[in-house]
Amino acid sequence: SSEQASTSTKRNLIVISNRLPLSVKRSEDGSYISSMSSGGLVTSLSGLTKTAEFRWYGWPGMSPKESVEQDEIRRSLAPHNAIPVFLDEELAQKHYNGFSNQILWPILHYQPGVTYDEGKWEAYKKVNEIFADTIAEAAQEEDLIWVHDYHLMLLPELLRERMAKKKRQACIGFSLHTPFPPSESLKVLPVAKDILKGMLSSTLVGFHTEDYRKNFSESCEYLLNARVQDSSILYKDRLVKTGHFTVGIDPDKFNETLKKDDVQARIHDLNERYKDIKVIVGVDRLDYIKGLTQKLHGFEQFLTDYPKWQGKVVLIQVAVPSREDVKEYQELETELSCLVGKINGKFSKPEYSPIIYLHRSIPFTELTALYSIADMCLLTSSRDGMNLVAFEYIACQEQRNGVLALSEFAGASVFMADGTIQFHPANIKEMSQCIHQGLTMSKEERKERYDKLAKFVHTNTSARWGQSFVAELSKRHA
Ligand code: ADP
Ligand code: F6P
Repeated sequence: SSEQASTSTKRNLIVISNRLPLSVKRSEDGSYISSMSSGGLVTSLSGLTKTAEFRWYGWPGMSPKESVEQDEIRRSLAPHNAIPVFLDEELAQKHYNGFSNQILWPILHYQPGVTYDEGKWEAYKKVNEIFADTIAEAAQEEDLIWVHDYHLMLLPELLRERMAKKKRQACIGFSLHTPFPPSESLKVLPVAKDILKGMLSSTLVGFHTEDYRKNFSESCEYLLNARVQDSSILYKDRLVKTGHFTVGIDPDKFNETLKKDDVQARIHDLNERYKDIKVIVGVDRLDYIKGLTQKLHGFEQFLTDYPKWQGKVVLIQVAVPSREDVKEYQELETELSCLVGKINGKFSKPEYSPIIYLHRSIPFTELTALYSIADMCLLTSSRDGMNLVAFEYIACQEQRNGVLALSEFAGASVFMADGTIQFHPANIKEMSQCIHQGLTMSKEERKERYDKLAKFVHTNTSARWGQSFVAELSKRHA
């Protein structure tokens, strides 16, 4: 149980991820401002802070050269138990935008045709080395070290080497927050073996779904000749445990926010505004894996197939800016605003526009209110590690029992099969039918589906995910 997990983990926990819970930026007046980072990793780890204590190392989003300024950033992060790892700007940009987001990200999402770049790989290695030096300096032998995500796949190996030089063992867990592709897709990357070896220096490697875990095991078997024994992998005399750990959210945070007076007032206003109109909500980072183009095409198809809905339904799409320095993301942004304009141009009336498109980050209270007033949530990822927005929508729908329409390519679809309407995101006709099915579903059916989904979301919380991973890790030695 979760209680056992927390009592069994008396050892200090060190969490390492590229992204910290707060991202620091320089404001116009020259001072540093920090804002909550968005994304699944921060949501899941922030949920864990309620039940576990840990020091969280990561890149703060910028690296001033002056030590006075670095100290200022250090101080602003300290109350959140976050410790910045400073990186030279150019190096950070090649590591984050270059290798991690232009090369690894598409491969991890099973996409072919990536252009490999030696310089970006070198930067990736260098950043992993800097993290390894920092952590080797900070960690004690008994500490549990938990590394997160694809930006730091070499870290377990580099860290283990450094700890060994100091005659220290290291208990290292690694969790991936993206899918893991089949070996045939991974092989496209010339440094696939280095990546696998890096991860295999962990003590325990965790994935969101059993399919991703299997793909990893098979890749180690096919590309490294490692021996797979059930859920363990034997490689160079070390037995590495793998597992899938169902990540989640902190549903109480949404319940508490929904009770606030200002949120209730906002919900009231929005309900008034959309009294005779059904609302479909979408919340996604502006990323090509989220299938936003397909979502817009699907919605357009729906308005064409079922014209009686024109004027009676609105899609409110929040597209949170993400990785804006990467060309593919910039191109997608242009494509989306163009498409929104085209569809609105086709179906709008002086008193009605079918799509409300918010290309910005919105405050948490507004996000919660939006989830709560929507009759349906439409998520269309072409490939997605889990998709926590699906969980968040359910957490806010106790009153309305709205419908969750989910792409079969989101990790969450495996766990939420019972309760969601699922579709193939490239099948626009099918998406159109699903929207119709969702909007016309009886109250009884909605309730029946909702109850199953709510049970899942309230059981599989982020705290439980973290505790079960840490409990499994702390059972092992090195
Ligand atoms: P990904 O990790 O790919 O971004 P997820 O759906 O798993 O996708 O997680 C997205 C997370 O980002 C959700 O928890 C969502 O609430 C959060 N989020 C969305 N908008 C904002 C925002 N404006 N500020 C902070 N977090 C946000
Ligand atoms: O969920 C996948 C993920 O890569 C998370 O690891 C990350 O927090 C999120 O997407 C947002 O991406 P970024 O850290 O690039 O803003």
